[in-house]
Amino acid sequence: MDGRLRAPRDAVVTAVDHGLTVGDGVFETCAVQDGQAFALTRHLRRLRTSALGLGLPEPDEGAVRDGVAAVLAAAGPQAGRLRITLTGGPGPLGSNRLTPDEQRPTLVVMAGPAVRAESARAVRVPWVRNERSAVAGLKTTSYAENVVALAEAYRRGADEAVLANTVGELCEGTGSNVLVERDGELLTPALSSGCLAGITRELLLEWAAEAGLPVREAETGELPYTVLDDVLAGGGHLTLSGSVRNVQPVVALDGSPLEPGPLSLEAQRLFQERVAERIDP
Ligand SMILES: Cc1ncc(COP(=O)(O)O)c(C=O)c1O
Repeated sequence: MDGRLRAPRDAVVTAVDHGLTVGDGVFETCAVQDGQAFALTRHLRRLRTSALGLGLPEPDEGAVRDGVAAVLAAAGPQAGRLRITLTGGPGPLGSNRLTPDEQRPTLVVMAGPAVRAESARAVRVPWVRNERSAVAGLKTTSYAENVVALAEAYRRGADEAVLANTVGELCEGTGSNVLVERDGELLTPALSSGCLAGITRELLLEWAAEAGLPVREAETGELPYTVLDDVLAGGGHLTLSGSVRNVQPVVALDGSPLEPGPLSLEAQRLFQERVAERIDP
């Protein structure tokens, strides 16, 4: 932070930081491989989109890249994930912001370990994503809804919660995108569902198209949340994608076992292969 390396428990942010008081901030999480951030250019593009979408100043890409390089060099080969947080900086105690020339955004780059699993266990939860929210599709630090839903998933022995949106469409997980394998295709909800434009999802769509694997965005009405009933009844398979998970078939939904789909396993293999080829695709 501020061009200096700090220890994890050093105090680096003031109590009046608008990211802390009202969640006025954006972030990115990248996987780290052999000391390097995976797909950093795409993540920085999304950080910029999220910041501008939230009304924050444009991030200084050079400063972010310098921070990433310094933190990863210090973290060494153990690091598995990188977190970039950008907030509005010190601000009022309410939701109103300082004027743009008074704002001093806070930028913090952190690295830490990551645990990778080959498969995921998911649950359905009663809460929904609001596809018409002012911050739909932005990766903001206002993640409390995800915290609650993920805590519920853990309480029920799973590691991800899958959400619908307000009109009953399948949307995404708390920290992942979802794909449904059905009739020889892998379908993922369109961005109009309110899901985040996941980098893993985006890369999988591109790489699958190149490799001739049938992976695509669903058309309107193709993926209602009730598709998960069909999946549970054996009429399909479920897969998650995300920066630390990569591509993970779901092997349990609401505590009932699920078979990983053959196409999902192929997509997982393809993704792993491509990830190993280029660090910043
Ligand atoms: C809400 C949400 N959806 C989807 C994703 C997956 O995005 P990515 O593949 O860029 O990690 C994330 C990542 O953390 C997320 O927080």
